[in-house]
Amino acid sequence: MTRIIGVVSGKGGVGKTTLVSNLGASLAKEGYNVAIVDANLTGANLGLHYGLISYPISVHDVMKKNAALTDAVYKHPSGVDIVPASLSFEDILDTPPVNIKEDIKTTFADKDYVLIDAATGLDRETLNAIDMCDEFIIVTHPELPTISDALRTKSIINKYEKKLVGIVLNRVTKKDEMKKDYIASFFKLPILGVIPEDSSIRRSIELKTPIVLSNPRHKISLEVKKITNALIGKEVQTTASTWDQIVLTLFGGTKKGSGNPKQK
Ligand SMILES: Nc1ncnc2c1ncn2[C@@H]1O[C@H](COP(=O)(O)OP(=O)(O)OP(=O)(O)O)[C@@H](O)[C@H]1O
Ligand SMILES: [Mg+2]
Repeated sequence: MTRIIGVVSGKGGVGKTTLVSNLGASLAKEGYNVAIVDANLTGANLGLHYGLISYPISVHDVMKKNAALTDAVYKHPSGVDIVPASLSFEDILDTPPVNIKEDIKTTFADKDYVLIDAATGLDRETLNAIDMCDEFIIVTHPELPTISDALRTKSIINKYEKKLVGIVLNRVTKKDEMKKDYIASFFKLPILGVIPEDSSIRRSIELKTPIVLSNPRHKISLEVKKITNALIGKEVQTTASTWDQIVLTLFGGTKKGSGNPKQK
């Protein structure tokens, strides 16, 4: 059965899109059939992570009922199917959020995973994205204001009585003082991964290739692999017990290339 998983946050800019692009590629590398959908209608950029800059049909067209979802699917050589949202200001203005979950279930019936990149906040766009998902990963920075907003998002998802898979801490630095276990205790959810702050992420976006593809040995890629393992139910091996130990293991790597997406 297809797992439809939303990647959400309380605050914007915490790394949802970066996680969706990398987790999608990582799951595909593991042999799973994966689609990723940009449901951030007013802040679309998921396609850019895969080099999709100009595309005739987007999720906006599907929501406006001008196109079928199958026509908005772009295939990447990694095996990931991408449904981008429109970058056009006009589309943003004239596209009210529409729940296309039934289309997603039909179009992606053969997928193991559909990852949905959500918008932030409490408006209709975000709630619509939440409505379309069955399970959720919450992304946050390891700092109190961002955690506080993420806890509000968790409460909303609880109201929907949907499943929370866990938390991903992103942009973690050696200077961060809040311990992983302490943060987990706020959420009462497992921490699926601890992704370090690293300029390689920006570089991977310039390269139009998720870092798990361009640099699979990089510490960020290894951490995404850990999140992947947690999702697919594989044993995660870690000896690190404290925040500092985890952070200390998270820097370094090498690199190689990948291809460009084309329309289905
Ligand atoms: N681990 C990281 N290290 C360094 N930079 C990062 C990391 N993760 C994400 N970034 C950068 O942070 C910025 C925001 O990331 P991203 O777009 O993934 O966040 P988002 O939660 O999807 O934002 P929005 O709420 O606007 O959709 C991007 O410029 C990205 O390159
Ligand atoms: Mg985003």
